[in-house]
Amino acid sequence: MEIFHIGAECYPVAKVGGLADVIGALPKYENSSENQVRVVIPCYQTAFRLENDFECVHWGKLKLGNFNFPFSVLKESSNKLGFELYLIEILELFDRPNIYNYRDDIERFLSFQIATLDWISGRSSIPDIIHCHDHHTGLIPFMKKYCPKYEKLKEISTLITIHNGLYQGIFSFNKLYYLPEFDLIHVRELEWGNCINSLAAGIKCADEITTVSPSYLNEINNSDNGLETLFQQVRHKSKGILNGIDIDVWDPNKDTILDVNYSIETLNEGKQKNKEQLCVLFNINPSKPLFSFIGRLYDEKGADLLPKVVTSALTIFKEEINILILGNGDVEIENQLTQLRAVFGGNYNVYIGYNEELAHKTYASSDFILIPSRVEPCGLNQMYALRYGTIPIVRRTGGLKDTVTDFENNGNGICHNEASAEEICNSIQRAVDLYKSKDIFNQIRIKGMNTNHSWQIVSQEYIGLYNLIISKRYES
Ligand code: GLC
Repeated sequence: MEIFHIGAECYPVAKVGGLADVIGALPKYENSSENQVRVVIPCYQTAFRLENDFECVHWGKLKLGNFNFPFSVLKESSNKLGFELYLIEILELFDRPNIYNYRDDIERFLSFQIATLDWISGRSSIPDIIHCHDHHTGLIPFMKKYCPKYEKLKEISTLITIHNGLYQGIFSFNKLYYLPEFDLIHVRELEWGNCINSLAAGIKCADEITTVSPSYLNEINNSDNGLETLFQQVRHKSKGILNGIDIDVWDPNKDTILDVNYSIETLNEGKQKNKEQLCVLFNINPSKPLFSFIGRLYDEKGADLLPKVVTSALTIFKEEINILILGNGDVEIENQLTQLRAVFGGNYNVYIGYNEELAHKTYASSDFILIPSRVEPCGLNQMYALRYGTIPIVRRTGGLKDTVTDFENNGNGICHNEASAEEICNSIQRAVDLYKSKDIFNQIRIKGMNTNHSWQIVSQEYIGLYNLIISKRYES
């Protein structure tokens, strides 16, 4: 089977969040002698692009309404990622340092989708499956199905995975002429809330929909994200599949970024040595339990609660704990967290930015990781933390609910229900007590390290799903 994954990010090529980790790992585990897996993302100005060799395998001109953009398809030459990587180079739209947040994002990602389909439809063989990810690729199932230009691709089965339903790629019908020609009888397939909604179009037109955890599927059916009634209509073709992690990249025993490698046998010394190094960097005391937060600083992730949590927790447990925050995002939250350095220096620090190496070191060095998300479709941080023997403190939502249970219920972490600073501090209090009961603390860490969230298992579920949708297509 030939499978194309199409998305906006892919680790280590271009990463903003967990989407990149998934597109950089799932294809690798799906690739086999029976399955040829290719990944397509836009070509941004990233270090990976500059430092690696690519060959141009196609060039063309895409049409976006009245605009024409030349584009090329670049194939990564060494195949070192475990799958074939293709970058769609549209210089005018993507040769920029950031991945998102430009005024012309709609034009950028629509052009990317058109260029990708133009290229795939011109190849000598057509794939069996197109696997789209999030709204940036949500119009592909529609275009493939209804634009005569892509007639040749009609038989390909499509699947869309929703990593985050809050972002939907919405734009006005004034821009309908951007899309390649199609019979207007199908226009309703694009519409949601009187606008063109890329994610909604993907949900309507894809053969199958997956969310990145079972609980998130349940939540988006019932929460007020604006698409809940649509999700209810497509229940028959939706499934929650919990993400996996790349256990080759995330392995404390092999991770070359760490100062010291460790396994279950050397857990205590290993983590302590890593912590000592990290604490030097951040001027904090390595003899205390370290609580960390790693992620984007947005309300969705509960990051707006962090300034209050840091203040309360470090006032109450001043002598007992340290807190380290890594992340960037909302400038207001960044500023508040930075200011707290002056108040709690020695017990607290913050790194504003995204730094993969520091993230690895922090998972290895921390005793607890705070994941206070309001919305968490899956969350990979808790899985990385578990693998590194770090106990997750989570709010029960989405994928966090599916992967972490409270240690008092024989689980692997600490859980609370509300997104409030009080509940998080209450969980920190429980963590401080747990830390003092060394035997139980260690048992829970070991339990986490023994959990297997590898893509090895999950990728087979996706392969099963592809086979199912292909067979359904032949039946109909
Ligand atoms: C998005 C979601 C996150 C999920 C990731 C990968 O970033 O917010 O919960 O883990 O995608 O699917």
